[in-house]
Amino acid sequence: MKLLPSVPDILYSDHVELDTLLHATLEALDVGDVARTFEELDFFWARLAMHIRAEHLRLFPVVREVAERSAELTDIPLLLDGLREDHDFFMRGLARAIKALRLVFHFGNEEETFAIVRDLIGEIAARLKIHNQIEEERIYPLAAENCLDTASANELASSVAAELDKYPNRFAGRAPVK
Ligand SMILES: [Fe+2]
Ligand SMILES: [Fe+2]
Repeated sequence: MKLLPSVPDILYSDHVELDTLLHATLEALDVGDVARTFEELDFFWARLAMHIRAEHLRLFPVVREVAERSAELTDIPLLLDGLREDHDFFMRGLARAIKALRLVFHFGNEEETFAIVRDLIGEIAARLKIHNQIEEERIYPLAAENCLDTASANELASSVAAELDKYPNRFAGRAPVK
């Protein structure tokens, strides 16, 4: 049987990749290239949405169950609620940034829009850093093999990996080659 990477490894690597994509967006913003900023931001948005989907649909329900079994993990449900609020905040902010950049294509007004987008991305980057730290320290370890039996850990790993493989059609060209 093929040995899968663990869920914490898969999601941690995805955080690193998302961080690289976010920096590519910020670089494009700094250069003042509207088309490239739009392209990078659109891709970051899609990739973060895939990551969030994997966490909501696959990871969080399992972590909630693991936490229910231990008296030392009573703070986990509240943490998960906070992380969900963060996810909504990221998606709302990115939708606004994309919308603002679309308006530049139609109406110009680049400088003002870039300032708005930079603020939005800056807020998202700051909150994402704390968010990812909480997940990596408190949430992902609960999906490791010492908290789940091997079959459940493998099943979760393959379902998380499958979510992270679902690139939207328009980004099929940027999906990793298997
Ligand atoms: Fe998250
Ligand atoms: Fe995450």
